[in-house]
Amino acid sequence: MLLHIEAALSAEQVAHLRTVLETTPWVDGRVTAGAQSAQAKHNLQVPEDAPAARELGEIILTALGRNEAFVSGALPLRVFPPLFNRYDEGMGFDDHIDNAIRFGGGVRFRTDLSATLFLSDPDDYDGGELVIEDAYGEHAVKLPAGDMIVYPASSVHRVMPVTRGSRWASFFWVQSMVREDGRRTELWRMDQALGQIRAELGDRHPAVIQLTGTYHNLLRAWAEV
Ligand code: NI
Repeated sequence: MLLHIEAALSAEQVAHLRTVLETTPWVDGRVTAGAQSAQAKHNLQVPEDAPAARELGEIILTALGRNEAFVSGALPLRVFPPLFNRYDEGMGFDDHIDNAIRFGGGVRFRTDLSATLFLSDPDDYDGGELVIEDAYGEHAVKLPAGDMIVYPASSVHRVMPVTRGSRWASFFWVQSMVREDGRRTELWRMDQALGQIRAELGDRHPAVIQLTGTYHNLLRAWAEV
């Protein structure tokens, strides 16, 4: 499932992040790439251990912890400390799959979900679409600054070359309590439908209580914590 989260960060937060990033040193993005994807990758990143990355990452993690769509759709167990990249004119990242296991914050993660949080307005650059392949074909994603896309880390994906301007983003991975995308998607759909039914029938309707129980019982059966 591709999960589009609108306004994950406010315009003020995006402006703050950009102001800090403007004075932060950037390095070749191949530092976090595996040997194979390093050949496909051409971008710039803020070093993982840079104080700015940690400070800005905390802002993102705090916002996500309060974001109902992210919590319901990703069912996060661990969120990798957010990283920051930019693609200037001529830069891109050809087809690849993200590494299955990563180390971040002293912890070993399984990457179930990949996330890109856009920090540039789409009008500020041409190209730079995040293209994600799934069973239904290819999806080209280019979102307003502050919006985020969360997608299965098992997907082949690429960033199209930027032909004008510069594309800034935060990217990170999530280990979900529910490893399998199909199960996570069903839980997300059920939670969304439950929200609508609760609005119609109220929290105390017997059907609402039963379906809420079913949601939690499925989560209990499928979750690894
Ligand atoms: Ni990737």
